[in-house]
Amino acid sequence: MFRPMPSVEGVKRHIEKSLCLVWLTMASSVSSSLPFLCSSSSDPGPRVALITGCSEGGIGHALAKELAGRGYSVIATSRSASSVGDDLRSQSNVEVVDLDVTSSISVSSTVSSILQKYGRIDILINNAGVPCNAPIAEVPHSLVEGTFQTNVFGPISLIRAVAPYMVEARQGKIVNIGSIGGFIAGPWSGIYAASKSALHALTDSLRLELRPFGVQVILVAPGGVVSNFPKAAVSVIQNIRYAIYKSYEQDIRTRAKYSQSSRSIPTPIFARKVIDVVLQKNPPRCFTYGYLSWTYSFLYFMPLWLRDRYFSGKAGLDKPLGIVPHMSGVSTKIT
Ligand SMILES: NC(=O)c1ccc[n+]([C@@H]2O[C@H](COP(=O)([O-])OP(=O)(O)OC[C@H]3O[C@@H](n4cnc5c(N)ncnc54)[C@H](OP(=O)(O)O)[C@@H]3O)[C@@H](O)[C@H]2O)c1
Repeated sequence: MFRPMPSVEGVKRHIEKSLCLVWLTMASSVSSSLPFLCSSSSDPGPRVALITGCSEGGIGHALAKELAGRGYSVIATSRSASSVGDDLRSQSNVEVVDLDVTSSISVSSTVSSILQKYGRIDILINNAGVPCNAPIAEVPHSLVEGTFQTNVFGPISLIRAVAPYMVEARQGKIVNIGSIGGFIAGPWSGIYAASKSALHALTDSLRLELRPFGVQVILVAPGGVVSNFPKAAVSVIQNIRYAIYKSYEQDIRTRAKYSQSSRSIPTPIFARKVIDVVLQKNPPRCFTYGYLSWTYSFLYFMPLWLRDRYFSGKAGLDKPLGIVPHMSGVSTKIT
């Protein structure tokens, strides 16, 4: 049979194709036998999560347990490592580290030693937080400062320490634990709500700023979840001596325990839901769950007069000036 002679161009194309095929075959066999040569496609071990505020009984503790159960290497941090609890400490893929989020020096040294040891941080959860339930006109300045130091400046320090690494790695998730109180604020919770609103705003900006680098930012706004929060809330306000709001002292204390009711969500259930959401390929920008989260979401879209009526009724602030009913029903005159 007659076969036409190949042209010079045809021969060149054939040689190029063959060389290309040989190169691809070599590259794929080299990459599978020497994984360190192609770091982007290799799996350098378990994923690493860094969580703040992991004291036993709280949300951070439950999130750490949930992620450890899903095979993550978890760095569970807390102001005092002893508060983390043996159940978490005894897990082989959990490392417990002391970290006070208000110390930017300790934040940056902790993050760099994690990166040195594990070589990566895949998830950062800014969970540590403190309550502050006191009337704005009488709240001590030190309490205001402490609340913002922990709830706002702390997360900023962690983001500033971790984000450059995630940007370089072109992947990662930053989860900020806000609050439904950051959506709408009622009486006695203005300072706490302001700190959480600030964190929500930071989260919105950060989400857009890090998106081009493949880093996802998620706001988790818990409603009522069973934790140590009310204990902390009552203890931070116990030494305040009110003048204007003396008659409301009991209402203020009651507000401090507001997140805890028989309908508050147990931390393991809350943590499972949150981690399900966070580990999605495309997680939602904001996730809210817990007691009263639906009520607050509804009120968020309502006119201010309706919100005011809801909150002032709950706080005992809807009565005529001068006569203030106690929770017990006894009336006290403001002098
Ligand atoms: N539980 C709720 O209903 C609810 C609702 C809305 C939002 N949240 C938010 O959820 C997060 C977790 O709170 P939680 O309910 O689990 O209360 P929690 O049990 O009191 O946990 C708060 C954690 O933050 C830690 N922390 C406080 N200051 C810190 C600091 N300077 N450095 C490092 N850690 C610090 C606490 O450590 P110590 O044990 O040393 O104090 C504790 O581990 C908070 O951000 C809170 O605002 C909770």
